[in-house]
Amino acid sequence: MGRNFSMEKLQQLYEGKAKKVYAVKGDADLFIVEYKDDATAFNGEKRGTITGKGVINNKMSNILFKMLEANGVKTHFVKELSDRETLVKAVKIIPLEIIIRNVAAGSFSKRYGVEEGRELKAPTLEFSLKNDALNDPLINNYHIIALDIASEAELKIISDMAFKINELLKNYFANIGVKLIDFKIEMGRDKDNNIILADEISPDTCRFWDAETNEKLDKDRFRRDLGNVEAAYQEMFKRVSK
Ligand code: TMP
Ligand code: ASP
Repeated sequence: MGRNFSMEKLQQLYEGKAKKVYAVKGDADLFIVEYKDDATAFNGEKRGTITGKGVINNKMSNILFKMLEANGVKTHFVKELSDRETLVKAVKIIPLEIIIRNVAAGSFSKRYGVEEGRELKAPTLEFSLKNDALNDPLINNYHIIALDIASEAELKIISDMAFKINELLKNYFANIGVKLIDFKIEMGRDKDNNIILADEISPDTCRFWDAETNEKLDKDRFRRDLGNVEAAYQEMFKRVSK
């Protein structure tokens, strides 16, 4: 196409903690997402910058979305426009954090008193309501249906997609020496009300442990002040790019 899409950005529709979303001139079915280096944790309480993170998350997420598409998962991905910008299908985000876990860690370990690193008997799925003012509280299927956030039929689609994505990602990362501990995804409704994968998949939204050493290669290094944050993102990007 050779056009400079960044010239076609219209007004900013939304600014989140890690990304900005823009309308696209002349096409209401598309958005442009721009990834920032800003990092937050604990609902914005902790703030910082991870230099180069925006570029890595943009490119890594696009590689993973393409892999998922090739395996039958519908996503918002259209085209990478630049180091930090991607053209995506316009969706209305379903306000749920969809969290899959393979190994106990983070809030799961804390809530249930389970040591981090314990292999779970089966992958788990949980939902949090995306609402910063309420601190993203856990929400169950009945609540989601009662509050008309998603229908029962949609919840079945969301759950099936989430577990399928987990299997594909787990295999993908195993092949590059990484254990996929857990991750968060978001889905949206496109113009025809189809549910598709949106947002991003990156070290911001997943826990990645080196398969040999269990070294953390994700945003926990920032959340927990473990140091070598940038190096961890670069290492993940290097492995995914091979
Ligand atoms: P948790 O153990 O803190 O609940 O996190 C589970 C997974 O979800 C982990 O891979 C990090 C990711 N996550 C996000 O992407 N955004 C968030 O706001 C939170 C709390 C977690
Ligand atoms: N990004 C989230 C926040 O700042 C939390 C996290 O990823 O830990 O609230």
